[in-house]
Formats: sequence, structure tokens, C-alpha cells
Amino acid sequence: MGEKHRENIMKNIKLGAFELDNIYCGDALELMKKIPDESIDLIVTDPPFAIEFKARRNNYNRTQSRVLEGYNEIPKEKYYEFTKLWMKEGYRILKDTGSMYVFSGWTNLKDILNAIDEVGFITINHIIWKYQFGVFTKRRYVTSHYHIIFVVKDEKRYKFNKIEHYPEDVWIINREYWTGKIKTPTKLPLELVKKILLYSSDKGDIVFDPFIGSGTVAVAAKMLGRHYLGFEIVESYYKLAKERVSKVQMGLDLFNEIDGETYEEDDNA
Ligand SMILES: C[S@@+](CC[C@H](N)C(=O)[O-])C[C@H]1O[C@@H](n2cnc3c(N)ncnc32)[C@H](O)[C@@H]1O
Repeated sequence: MGEKHRENIMKNIKLGAFELDNIYCGDALELMKKIPDESIDLIVTDPPFAIEFKARRNNYNRTQSRVLEGYNEIPKEKYYEFTKLWMKEGYRILKDTGSMYVFSGWTNLKDILNAIDEVGFITINHIIWKYQFGVFTKRRYVTSHYHIIFVVKDEKRYKFNKIEHYPEDVWIINREYWTGKIKTPTKLPLELVKKILLYSSDKGDIVFDPFIGSGTVAVAAKMLGRHYLGFEIVESYYKLAKERVSKVQMGLDLFNEIDGETYEEDDNA
């Protein structure tokens, strides 16, 4: 079957209140309630932080004017409650065979790990993502890693496609540069998200990200022939995500072409 044909057939499939293979603008805490029980195969998400994150700060040596404003941060004192709320919904909507990968910096890790236990998830791995650079520091080490917590509902039934002989839990994957483009401040590399999808889902599975930002999880899912659903509260990010996904042809792996200038040097570095 031609990819275009398959893309058309896969349009308009419903998942509760939502159309599958779509991204919605709104508050994940509200929207997740409208997803049916045990309907999702894989959740991959990089939730908002509870740090003084300034979206337009000139981090990663980027030209500030090209970083979209409006990053929706959660106050530190509310972070645990917020995390528990969305994770409970995550547990409810995940199939028994499903998995969830949650990204976290070290500053909020305690809240993420406690919520995982409280909600009832079983932790399978604690992956370290090592990236190539961090924000310059004077009196502390430069943070150049992120945590990815891999959890499941049923440790006897979860999916795991062992695509490498020796799959280690430290992943060295570079962040992407988006030279001269409008961008969100916290985009994950496609290579990283694709690795997760290949290990923990099959073609035709439903992949969900409640905090989709620039749409990376949807882009990876579409490239790899998975269904996707995503939510984003900031309208400008939502629009960017929709635009990115619309450029991907279903099931066609355009890894280095989709964003055109991916991996080029930053003009400000
Ligand atoms: C760390 S970013 C995700 C980045 C994304 N993985 C990417 O590659 O672009 C978290 C996102 O969650 C969004 N967000 C924060 N609170 C939200 C909420 N209650 N509902 C939906 N999205 C929310 C933020 O605006 C931000 O874009």
C-alpha cells in the first residue's frame, strides 16, 4: 500500500474526544480526562519544569529573537501535585502492555520519582541521556545530562523490541541545532525519541505526549508509522508543532531532512 494512501486511510480515527494523529491546544490536565481508559500504547513526555526557566534566555548560544516566548512553567511548590495529577491520568489511559518514558532534569527528579511510585508504575530503567553541551557555569559543573525514567504497568507484559544486542542505559545523543529558525526552548533530538519508539512500540501503535512542545514525539511517531496524539498549552508552540508534523510524510524516515538545517552549527556559537 502506498504511504499516501495509508495516510489517508489513517485519517479521522477517533480516540475518545480526539481525532488520532492530531495535536490539540489546551491544558493536558483537562484534556487527558477525555482519553479512554487503557487506549494508549506508549507515553513519551518531557513535562514542564519547576525551575526559573526563562524561555527567551540566551541559552545554548541561540539568537534570542528566534526562540518562541510563552513557555509554561509550573511553580516549584505545586510541582509534585501537578506531576501526580497528570501521571494518574497517564496510568489510567495506558494499556496494560504499555510503557511510559518521562524526561526529567535533576532538579525535579525527586518529585517525578515519588509520583511514579505513588501512582503505581513499575520502574524498568533509569536512563541517562548525555548531550554535548550545557549552559556555561562559574562555580558548579556544567549540567550535560538528562534523566529518562522508563516505567510500565505490568512488568511481565510490556513491549520491548530488543533492537540492539547490548542496549545500555547511557545514551550519548547530541542536541540539534536549528540555525536561523523559529524554535521552542526545549526541543528534544529526534534521534532520541525515535530510539524510544523503536524499542517500546510497533507500527500502528498509539503514542501520546501530553506536553508536546514543538511536536518532536508526533514527528518521530509519524515518521515511524505510529499513530500519535499530543497536547500543548502554549498556542505558538502548538502551531509550530502542527506545522512540523504536517511536513512529515507518513512512515517515511526523513531523519536529517525534516527540519532542513538540523545539525548545522549555530550562527551564534
Ligand atoms: C519541556 S517542553 C516539551 C518539549 C518537547 N518535548 C519538544 O521536543 O519540543 C514542555 C511543554 O509543556 C507545555 N506545557 C506546560 N504546561 C502544560 C499543560 N498544563 N498542558 C499542556 N502543555 C503544557 C509547555 O508549554 C512546553 O511546551
